[in-house]
Amino acid sequence: MAEPLIRVQHLNKTFRIGFTRRRVEAVRDVSFEVHAGDIFGFLGPNGAGKTTTIKILTGLIRASSGSASLFGLPIPSAKAMARIGFLPENPYVYPYLTPTEFVEMCGRLSGLSGAVARERTRTVLERVGILYAADRPVRRLSKGMLQRTGLAAALVADPELLILDEPMSGLDPVGRKEVRDLIFDERKQGRTIFFSTHILSDVEMLCDRVTILRQGSVVVSGKLGELLRREVRRTDVALSGADEELEAALAERGHPAFRAGERLIVGVTGKEQVGAVLALALEAGAEVVEVTPRHETLEDLFVREAIDAGS
Ligand SMILES: Nc1ncnc2c1ncn2[C@@H]1O[C@H](COP(=O)(O)OP(=O)(O)OP(=O)(O)O)[C@@H](O)[C@H]1O
Ligand SMILES: [Mg+2]
Repeated sequence: MAEPLIRVQHLNKTFRIGFTRRRVEAVRDVSFEVHAGDIFGFLGPNGAGKTTTIKILTGLIRASSGSASLFGLPIPSAKAMARIGFLPENPYVYPYLTPTEFVEMCGRLSGLSGAVARERTRTVLERVGILYAADRPVRRLSKGMLQRTGLAAALVADPELLILDEPMSGLDPVGRKEVRDLIFDERKQGRTIFFSTHILSDVEMLCDRVTILRQGSVVVSGKLGELLRREVRRTDVALSGADEELEAALAERGHPAFRAGERLIVGVTGKEQVGAVLALALEAGAEVVEVTPRHETLEDLFVREAIDAGS
């Protein structure tokens, strides 16, 4: 197999804080690989160690132990950095510049000539949907517009690998969809994307592979399709015309239900129970509106591995 674009092996980072020099083990024995063409999701609850890992990868801080490489080059590597577009968490954009000036400056700092930087800036500002605000001072932009400016800066030098720390943060649902589409398109153009997020539905729609961290350690890693349990977890049966008597009879047989408007939604665990529930409902004169098998979602996996397992 080809050399991974990102290889992290047994990475550890311990911070010392306060007067007592208390130890915070932010990253513990973290290993993973990101291959060319992947959209890779880096997940974990608040404080799990995502940003710390990303800061190590981008050379902003040093690991306490372990190793990491980008394009096969041990970090920190200026050569590797030149091939990366990076969106930091809460990107800082100089408040007195306009998005055009800021993104063009980032292009120049990445080595683009003046004319190329100017042309690329226009292209990427259009790409992230803020060309209309390209000449307003940054301090007048909303959080979402700032985030887009940061994304444009990450794209300006046409990098092979995008490292994005919470790219959807601060965006409304439409903005999030636009960033999802952008990530998909960028992959189609041949880029590899590594991003961290809390928004699991976005990951589910986008990622080929995920790594989930909890308290600094990897708890789950692999292909998304293989991680989610495939069996049906529950079948939701939606009924109309169900009276309280039927609801009570279902509860007695261990099928909890809730009302959603005119409907009664019955959660049935165990495939073999579905027939009996339907028979009971029809016998009681209710109408079956919908029968929906529910598979495990990424949210279920996240709660199972990253939250419940720790409590
Ligand atoms: N410079 C620092 N000094 C001391 N502790 C730190 C420092 N940076 C991070 N930490 C601690 O390391 C742990 C991991 O933080 P990190 O920012 O990597 O988490 P995260 O997964 O990015 O969280 P979030 O989802 O909230 O962005 C936390 O306990 C945090 O308080
Ligand atoms: Mg973070």
